[in-house]
Amino acid sequence: MNNNRDRTNTNISCGQDGHDLARSMESTDWMEQVRNLNAEHALSTGKVRTFRLDVFGCQMNERDAETIAGMLTNMGYEQVSHDEPADIIVFVTCCVRENAEEKIYGHIGALSHECEKHGSIIVASGCMMQQPHVAEKIKKSYRNVKIVFGTHNIHDFPMLLHRYLTKRKRVFEVWEKEGRVIEDMPIKRSHRHKAWVNIVYGCNNFCTYCIVPYVRGRERSRRREDILEEIRALASDGCREITLLGQNVNSYGNDLGKKDLFARLLYDIETVDGIDRVRFMTSHPKDLSDSLIKAMKECSKVCEHLHLPFQAGSNRVLERMNRKYTREHYLDLVERIRDAVPDIALTTDIIVGFPGENEEDFEDTLDLVRRVRFDAAYTFIYSPRKGTPAEKWEQTESPETISKRFQRLLEIQTDISTQLAKKYEGRTVEVLVDGPSKSNPEMQSGRTRTGRLVNFKGDTDLTGQMADVNIIRAGAFWLEGKEGKRRG
Ligand code: 5AD
Ligand code: SF4
Repeated sequence: MNNNRDRTNTNISCGQDGHDLARSMESTDWMEQVRNLNAEHALSTGKVRTFRLDVFGCQMNERDAETIAGMLTNMGYEQVSHDEPADIIVFVTCCVRENAEEKIYGHIGALSHECEKHGSIIVASGCMMQQPHVAEKIKKSYRNVKIVFGTHNIHDFPMLLHRYLTKRKRVFEVWEKEGRVIEDMPIKRSHRHKAWVNIVYGCNNFCTYCIVPYVRGRERSRRREDILEEIRALASDGCREITLLGQNVNSYGNDLGKKDLFARLLYDIETVDGIDRVRFMTSHPKDLSDSLIKAMKECSKVCEHLHLPFQAGSNRVLERMNRKYTREHYLDLVERIRDAVPDIALTTDIIVGFPGENEEDFEDTLDLVRRVRFDAAYTFIYSPRKGTPAEKWEQTESPETISKRFQRLLEIQTDISTQLAKKYEGRTVEVLVDGPSKSNPEMQSGRTRTGRLVNFKGDTDLTGQMADVNIIRAGAFWLEGKEGKRRG
């Protein structure tokens, strides 16, 4: 028995705003209603309504955007590219750091001309909208934003859109609390050969700097059968690589009352024919179990790559961050993982300038970076987030000091990333090809099992295929291959 998920989202009775009656209709019904409105519009004007997406933040947001695109397509909208005008412009927002928020306000503001000229409307969704002060600011200062919803009520979008289209009044509806896990929403995937698959939503960890638990709610795991059904369907549709998503994938299943379900899930996925590669993110060091390390060693489809954020190298800072592990524990984990999977690529997230972090603490971070030798690190300057415990903590260091430390870290890490990349020179690697390279469309581009970006020349278009590529040159963030040959 599980009462925390719903296949149909009928009768969602969160009682959030007195719209329960309206909600008793399924979102599929609302989609049909909007589809009918759009069909009438197309008949009378000869034009199909369009949408485009502007997505900020992490993979969860990319995945949410696929659901929004799926719903809009189902409702009769056609997706257009970034440089084309659209009837609906959807923002999927991020609030993990202040600069993400500032950028989003800037992008929304810059659209006034397009909205006036083409009659476009803006829909704002995602993490940022879960913060009441943001929704207020949007209401007051950004008149072209006509529909707002948050992370917990994405499935309500068709109903909200119908309300807007029929009443032409701005619709703001953000649920304060998470609801059930809703299955079977339409999805318009960005790629055929690789896909994101959510396994757990939300986070229970409350790291003191982080806003995610406040905007994405508590952990809710999807049912194993639902996940496997989705992966089997993807495989039969030609998907070769899946990335399992969760704020903390290692705690997958804890809310279902069972332990170590994530490792078991990897063994289950290993049996799905057609899938060649399995990735997952993000892992929390405090929850990475021995059975998961064993599963990574034993499951041939699990790629030799682990993203394991350590955030800070000083135990004092880690404690203040509420990370619940020590640097010694982290280093021990790294050793055990490398024993089990010798060629594994490790990547991480690091925060510089957490309140109270002094020079000695920062040296501990550098020391950990030098010891582990990560393939790549995503480095961030600490950004105070409203409502988190650390927001109120005193910053002892000046912005200049923090910025200098950040640069030092970046230099050391870039050096390590380059040295590790050089090891690929002369080797032939397996690449899953994504398509033409973004920086040079004459080259094709893809990723190794270890997650490295590879650009190479190829006579035939190998998009979506596995290729063997001989690496001739390597930089910190890319590998260049001589020629790609289709595998097998
Ligand atoms: N300031 C800076 N970086 C942050 N992160 C999360 N919250 C903050 C913050 N307030 C970083 C962490 C996390 C990554 C996704 O973003 O390193 O792992
Ligand atoms: Fe944020 Fe910590 Fe949860 Fe990651 S584990 S989402 S950093 S609270």
